[in-house]
Amino acid sequence: MSPYFITLIVNNQRYVLEIGNRPGGVKPSHTLAHTLRENLGLTGTKVGCNKGECGACTVLLEGKPVLSCLVLTVECDGKSITTIEGLEDSQTGKLDPIQQSFLESGAFQCGFCTPGMIMSVKALLSSSSSPTDEEIREALSGHYCRCISHYHVLEAVTRALHKSR
Ligand code: FES
Ligand code: FES
Repeated sequence: MSPYFITLIVNNQRYVLEIGNRPGGVKPSHTLAHTLRENLGLTGTKVGCNKGECGACTVLLEGKPVLSCLVLTVECDGKSITTIEGLEDSQTGKLDPIQQSFLESGAFQCGFCTPGMIMSVKALLSSSSSPTDEEIREALSGHYCRCISHYHVLEAVTRALHKSR
């Protein structure tokens, strides 16, 4: 049987991956979170619960936030994915204003939940230049953080909004 391949566009880079059981391949049962971390080495995407409850694994699929632990990699053939690694400027290394705002607001402790939160905020600010507090809370509602007050995160989002104006 001839091999079957899929293509993922991750952070503007094209990856062609073989589907199957061979070493380095992607099994039909593999999630996008698994493939990003284990095949592509993009470990900025975190896996907490691995069942859609914590938000840590959030990435953008065609610009929309998804829980990558619930998406099968084979479903993403030909699609564009952005992970936390894709937010900084690849030429200058400059952080995205949202990343910078999280740093300046001290909006994390262990940082495990942070990449997922930042990806959800990125999606929100890409679709709305002036979201209400309610919309910000709604966008962050699926993210579980065991370390800090979410008020720091809200401050970071407000700071990012000012930077983008
Ligand atoms: S690891 Fe995907 S939602 Fe928790
Ligand atoms: S900063 Fe530790 S889980 Fe959120």
